[in-house]
Amino acid sequence: MHEIQEKNTINHKISIAPMLDWTDRHFRFFLRQITKKAVFYSEMIAAPAILLGNKEKLLGFDEKEHPLVLQIGGSHPKMMQDCARIGFDYGYKELNINAGCPSSRVQSGKFGAILMKTPELVAECVSNMKAATPLPVSVKTRISLSDVAGDGFEALFNFANLVKQAGCAHLIVHARKAKLNWSPKDNRADKMGLNYDVVYRLKKSFPDMLISINGNILSLESAKQHLEYVDGAMIGRLAYGNPYILAEVDQIFYQDDHLILSRKEILENMMPYLEKNKESLSIIMPHLMGLFHGQQNAKTYKQILAAKDLEALKTFIKNKEN
Ligand SMILES: Cc1cc2nc3c(=O)[nH]c(=O)nc-3n(C[C@H](O)[C@H](O)[C@H](O)COP(=O)(O)O)c2cc1C
Repeated sequence: MHEIQEKNTINHKISIAPMLDWTDRHFRFFLRQITKKAVFYSEMIAAPAILLGNKEKLLGFDEKEHPLVLQIGGSHPKMMQDCARIGFDYGYKELNINAGCPSSRVQSGKFGAILMKTPELVAECVSNMKAATPLPVSVKTRISLSDVAGDGFEALFNFANLVKQAGCAHLIVHARKAKLNWSPKDNRADKMGLNYDVVYRLKKSFPDMLISINGNILSLESAKQHLEYVDGAMIGRLAYGNPYILAEVDQIFYQDDHLILSRKEILENMMPYLEKNKESLSIIMPHLMGLFHGQQNAKTYKQILAAKDLEALKTFIKNKEN
């Protein structure tokens, strides 16, 4: 799978999924203390917001967050083209179309999973975005909609074929079907079963297209196993709930042997950022909650974060041995 990775300027072996309200710039800055190499996706930003909203607030980021991909929610080809140009000007490394989120909010905006019904439209968006910038354009989707019979492979193949012809460089497949009127939570639960094999088969059918797999990857070992079949493993909830599990990503997947920081060192690195962004602590602190997941002092740590008490946090750090 090496050759394809090289054609894309960023190495997608491990990426962190776009997650609304979670993978904002603060969480990404924090997560960069843990892995320098994993690719980060922004939370989804709707095309009209990009065009009409406060661009710096929505799109701004710290250079340290790279490699960073912008996920755009939209399906209007001209709007997507304009958004692509804006994303490029902001310095994102790849542009991603959300064609997989089943939330009704997203559905009413005619983007997300409903776009699996109109792969030609997604392809037109890809093509317009490609025409507007030199950046790779990727699409995040699911296997198919739930009303598709069988395992959905044919629908996924057709989708992949159309977007590839339009210039899509990278397809990310959340290995489940999507049911449109179910909540996103139900759509991630056991009742919407995972089928990794369909995604592996897709990779065999498109050997020269970069394909990442997503859905319930709960350890680096499991990510490693997926990489025997596909080019990238995208991790979502695990990265938020237990971020320190990513501490070995750079060594294992990118042969980068920089020193692994301890949880204490990570917090020390975060202190100046927290001091500088005091007015945003109510947004930032929840993002740090998972750092001590499963550790003895997790409860005390979370209480300090909940109280947004920076002085208590400094004492907590000072008293920690490593
Ligand atoms: C809180 C939350 C927000 C999400 N927001 C987005 C989003 O903005 N765009 C998107 O394509 N998927 C979104 N997703 C779906 C994830 O990107 C991912 O596909 C899903 O969580 C499955 O991966 P996981 O099992 O590793 O968590 C979201 C998921 C969660 C939990």
